[in-house]
Amino acid sequence: TWTMLNIVEEQVERIREQVGDGRAICALSGGVDSAVAAAIVQRAIGDRLTCVYVDHGMMRLGETEQVRRDFEEVFDALDVVDAADQFIDALAGVSEPEQKRKIIGREFIRTFEAAQVRVFGDADEGETAYLVQGTLYPDVVESGGGAGTSNIKSHHNVGGLPDDLKFELIEPLRTLFKDEVRAVGEQLGLPSTMVWRQPFPGPGLGIRIIGEVTRERLDLLREADAIAREELTRAGLDRDIWQMPVVLLADVRSVGVQGDGRTYGHPVVIRPVTSEDAMTADWARLPYDVIERISTRITNEVAEVNRVTLDVTSKPPGTIEWE
Ligand code: XMP
Repeated sequence: TWTMLNIVEEQVERIREQVGDGRAICALSGGVDSAVAAAIVQRAIGDRLTCVYVDHGMMRLGETEQVRRDFEEVFDALDVVDAADQFIDALAGVSEPEQKRKIIGREFIRTFEAAQVRVFGDADEGETAYLVQGTLYPDVVESGGGAGTSNIKSHHNVGGLPDDLKFELIEPLRTLFKDEVRAVGEQLGLPSTMVWRQPFPGPGLGIRIIGEVTRERLDLLREADAIAREELTRAGLDRDIWQMPVVLLADVRSVGVQGDGRTYGHPVVIRPVTSEDAMTADWARLPYDVIERISTRITNEVAEVNRVTLDVTSKPPGTIEWE
């Protein structure tokens, strides 16, 4: 539409002014927001943009390979960084949600700083380092720290940023909601798999493990999540459901029976929601047979998970994610 085209052109102009003949890196998450932000900046400064995707070890099953395939088609320069050990080591012993978010936000920035030097070499005296982020209006509002904001949780790309940030930020979507971002994405001709991808938080599965994040717990959750997503897709519900977090209650155990033995395993929670903009959400009335398939498969196929529960809380009073 006319408005979306306007937004793009206005942003392209602003970015050209801001960056001059400088260079920028874009924090690409695999999601629609950072993809659209990158596409706008690529329009503005062309090959002086390098996209950096960080695998922090808390992505979903097969996600990094998928992102690499999809994004190499669209972006000229894509740098994939394996930083799993760095992030997971930094999270050792941490259970408190805000602390997790701040650590993840900090490690992202450290990784982008290293990528900046690797890709562009050491900065010249007085040269500005630019970082493109796909920050949306709701991320800003819910992270607090300004007029009209609340302090619900520190989104990794806003309230989770370290105080000594050396980057100058470029955030072309900072005033937009997700439906507007999708419209811009379509306008820019991005593939519909990218534009209509369900939201996934930057901190990834790290904020879907209630308790400490460990490699073993991540593996469990990845398996359960892959099953849930596969069944949602098979039921043809991807576009009806805004997103469906699967949450591992890692510090909880319950007694079960399987085969002819007792089990003492962990519960997972499935949290399908519908929403317009993630500021509010309703729990989704998934068909019972879909819930049943998800439950049966997860308890059969994921060792150590012996119970599947359904979250029937709207936002408010819940948030979409559990942390
Ligand atoms: P909540 O849990 O606040 O989530 O209801 C609203 C939307 O934001 C996503 N989310 C995040 N996205 N970084 C992100 O990029 C974050 O730190 C973050 N925290 C939540 C969440 O998945 C939902 O779509």
